[in-house]
Amino acid sequence: MTQSRSRSFFSESGVAGLTHRAFTAGMGYDSADMARPLIGICNTSSELNPCNSHLPALAAAVKRGVLQAGGFPLEFPTISLGEVHLSPTSMLWRNLAAMDTEEMIRGNPLDGVVLLTNCDKTTPAALMGAASADLPSIMLSGGPMLNGHYQGEVLGACTDCRRYTAEYLAGEIDGATYREVEANLVRSAGHCMVMGTASTMNSLMEALGMALPGNGAIPAVDSRRMQLAAAVGRQIVRLVEADIRPSQILTPAAFDNAITLLHALGGSTNAIAHLPAIAGRAGIELPLSRFDELSRRSPLIANLRPTGSYQMEDLFYAGGIPAVLKMLLPLLHGEALTVTGRSLAENVADAATSNAEIIRSLDDPLQPEGGLSILRGNLAPDGAVIKHAAATPALMSHRGPALVFQDVADLRARIHDSALDVTPDHVLVLQNSGPIGGPGMPEVGNLPIPQKLLKRGVRDMLRLSDARMSGTSYGTIVLHIAPEAALGGPLALVRDGDEIELDVAGRRLQLHVDDAELASRRTGWTPPDPAYTRGYGQLYLRHVNQAPQGCDFDFLRGRTPVTATAQPKF
Ligand code: FES
Repeated sequence: MTQSRSRSFFSESGVAGLTHRAFTAGMGYDSADMARPLIGICNTSSELNPCNSHLPALAAAVKRGVLQAGGFPLEFPTISLGEVHLSPTSMLWRNLAAMDTEEMIRGNPLDGVVLLTNCDKTTPAALMGAASADLPSIMLSGGPMLNGHYQGEVLGACTDCRRYTAEYLAGEIDGATYREVEANLVRSAGHCMVMGTASTMNSLMEALGMALPGNGAIPAVDSRRMQLAAAVGRQIVRLVEADIRPSQILTPAAFDNAITLLHALGGSTNAIAHLPAIAGRAGIELPLSRFDELSRRSPLIANLRPTGSYQMEDLFYAGGIPAVLKMLLPLLHGEALTVTGRSLAENVADAATSNAEIIRSLDDPLQPEGGLSILRGNLAPDGAVIKHAAATPALMSHRGPALVFQDVADLRARIHDSALDVTPDHVLVLQNSGPIGGPGMPEVGNLPIPQKLLKRGVRDMLRLSDARMSGTSYGTIVLHIAPEAALGGPLALVRDGDEIELDVAGRRLQLHVDDAELASRRTGWTPPDPAYTRGYGQLYLRHVNQAPQGCDFDFLRGRTPVTATAQPKF
């Protein structure tokens, strides 16, 4: 397919070719530009997405690299999804962003594309679209923020947003301190700098083979991030010349590599929704069982918050993701092809670890198994997820009475009520917060600890839901329960006082209510009213898959590779 799409576009005869060339020349380009491989720079920059607002400078560096290598770079925007500003949840639009990316790649006469992303959903969305379009592609993220600092303490977004809010509600810090934390938290451009969802997904791009080494950890404002962008610009031209496409890179071996890195990093639970969605675009089934199989043989070796002590800037100084991957090589498919045109093992051959406290060896891990587990039981027949590495060890085996909240509105109305009948042994249960019930499977699974218990010193409880949680969250939190409550999953049938048992070692989540009683409750169950009756929301409700399938739309799974020549106009 080498350069065939742009060549056919610019060399077409008649009025079509005339307009293609004339309007491109109208931007100041000439035939020498139009003779080169046309590289699209898909930019998710937006001032409504602070994590991606600095991407124009990176786009300029990518263009410089494309020109150095003899390509013709043209930048285009796609939808940007920011965690902070979008309501009710950015996940509601991840698939819309993926459609935007895929169709703009398909509709324009591009030979290759660089995908500029950063905040949580922008990275999986862009790769889902690129995987379905299957044009030579490289992922490039904007990088993490620098560490925050306050009175000698390192601050991390947004792990410390939650931690200090809990301390404030508990009366342990005053309003002035709370405001100082806010003022010192976000020091620079970039995405959240703990091992949250953005750090996770942008790091996994290296293991998948879809990003150049260094993509995960180079800070957003480090000059080496700009140098990486220029290198990406040069490499995408070579990738077009070699005609290496995502379908050759996104193989089962590549997903095994990504899952192994996910466990080794103590990465975000959100990856367990995004990776199956990306794999689905590549025609690969990625069942939850594969995450659990690889968890049992993948030690946690990166000492990063919220499971550990350090942050992305520290990881970069310690050797970055290439050093972590090199440490993991005995557990990886090192022969897997990457966008460098070389194997994963070749990419990291020269990587070195400079801080054994941050990047541990396989012989001296932080935990012998990965940080995430898949649970099953009569409460989660199709699976549930727990990030046990960020949970309280004493709660890993727990049985207690349920305290049920029907939805997020009910939770907000009652959780801090001083009259709430709750003890530290209770299991907090949130219903109707899954892909359909949320809608959009919002990051509300880290239910707040009731204020009356915070004041008694309680900082963690067992909490369950069909929602997601931010990758920056921590605690004993079971998520992604499937099928979700809004579809009539067993979670919908839980009532106050029911006994619930969690056994992480046995990977079990059990509702101790007999089958006859559950059947009786089911006859009285009615689904909640749909959140949307028109527009994109209704399309979403009709077609979204459940969490184990990655919450993609049923009609978007798989790929339709772009045609070798530009599409004819009608
Ligand atoms: Fe964008 Fe955290 S808000 S990565």
